[in-house]
Amino acid sequence: MNTETVIRTFVEYYEERGHHRVTGSTLLPPPGDPVLFTTSGMHPLTPHLEGRPHEHGRRLVNVQRCLRTTDLEEVGDPTHLTVFEMLGTWSLGDYEGPQSLDWGHALLTEGFGIDPGLLHATVFGGDDQVGPDTDSLRVWEERGVPVEHTVDDNWWSNGPTGPCGPDSEIFLWTGDTPPESTPTRDERWVEVWNHVMMRHRRLPDGSLVPLPQRNVDTGLGVERLAALLQGERSVFDCDVFTPWRRTVPDLWHLDEPTSRLVCDHLRSAMVVVGDGVRPGTTGRGYVLRRLIRRALTALWRDDPSRGLGDLPGELTRHTLDHFRQSADPDEVRRVLLDEERRFAGLLRRGRQVLARPRFRGTLDEEDLHYLHDTHGLPPELVRSLREEDPSRVS
Ligand code: SER
Repeated sequence: MNTETVIRTFVEYYEERGHHRVTGSTLLPPPGDPVLFTTSGMHPLTPHLEGRPHEHGRRLVNVQRCLRTTDLEEVGDPTHLTVFEMLGTWSLGDYEGPQSLDWGHALLTEGFGIDPGLLHATVFGGDDQVGPDTDSLRVWEERGVPVEHTVDDNWWSNGPTGPCGPDSEIFLWTGDTPPESTPTRDERWVEVWNHVMMRHRRLPDGSLVPLPQRNVDTGLGVERLAALLQGERSVFDCDVFTPWRRTVPDLWHLDEPTSRLVCDHLRSAMVVVGDGVRPGTTGRGYVLRRLIRRALTALWRDDPSRGLGDLPGELTRHTLDHFRQSADPDEVRRVLLDEERRFAGLLRRGRQVLARPRFRGTLDEEDLHYLHDTHGLPPELVRSLREEDPSRVS
């Protein structure tokens, strides 16, 4: 089942159950949202989760592009991406969690044909503020799905304050043996779908108050589900990455984790630029800069002649099309190449400056300030340049 079919099957299933498809927004959350980027499908809907009526009613479904930097260090493993698409469903004060889980289980097993014996659920076990989620537990017991109780892993929030609630996650077994152990103890259980009973609001003093309505917010990563349905362990092997996987290994000989990181970061950078962000020293621009520079650092580690100019323009066009972005691919490419030039210049300058006798020994705070303020060399760059030369004292 290719990704387009996964998305269509999902959306149609919920449309048949009275959900209206809403158009996803860009990676930039609405003003006032505490996060830099849209990290899940619920962001653009926050005012409606807080009670403002939605023009399309109380049942919604969509596909939303998301960006998560919390997972940046994990990129390169088989399941994490920086920019990805999330399928989402919402009950805005309409049906409750058990209905959502029931439909979710039926869609996975009957709609997508997943063997029910390969599923595991987790539910919120309760803490000193909110009791255990017995409603979700009951659904899973009725459906014969094994359940693990957790506390922190089954509480979803968007930040320190705001809408939040207990969640129930559905995992799929990806091991070569029959299923064993539980999701928190064995990483062959891969999370596919999160159902959040979003009915609380966390206040700045840490206390919880009820939201004006009891919502359900669910999110499912498209690439991850598509890979699993296509029998692939790695998101990078699902059909979405085919053009990347066809191109990158021919251009650059990279080991598998490096190749995944380079594909993820460059593809993510294209989408971020496509949504109007430009590299910079703070906020979104800094996230973009880090993505590009991390990819270049990985590429240049064993061959400094590699460059983003090697990438065929077709890859940029394909990526923007996939995310339904209207940005000009040539402009996106120009932004990436400009940043590459800037980074290469900075590295050249950094190596020259750090070769001076004054900087060969241990560097103190004052040195780091001087390198930053006078030569534009941020401390993390200084650190990585010094690591290139093991003869230095760090
Ligand atoms: N907001 C939840 C999540 O990000 C479900 O969409 O997992």
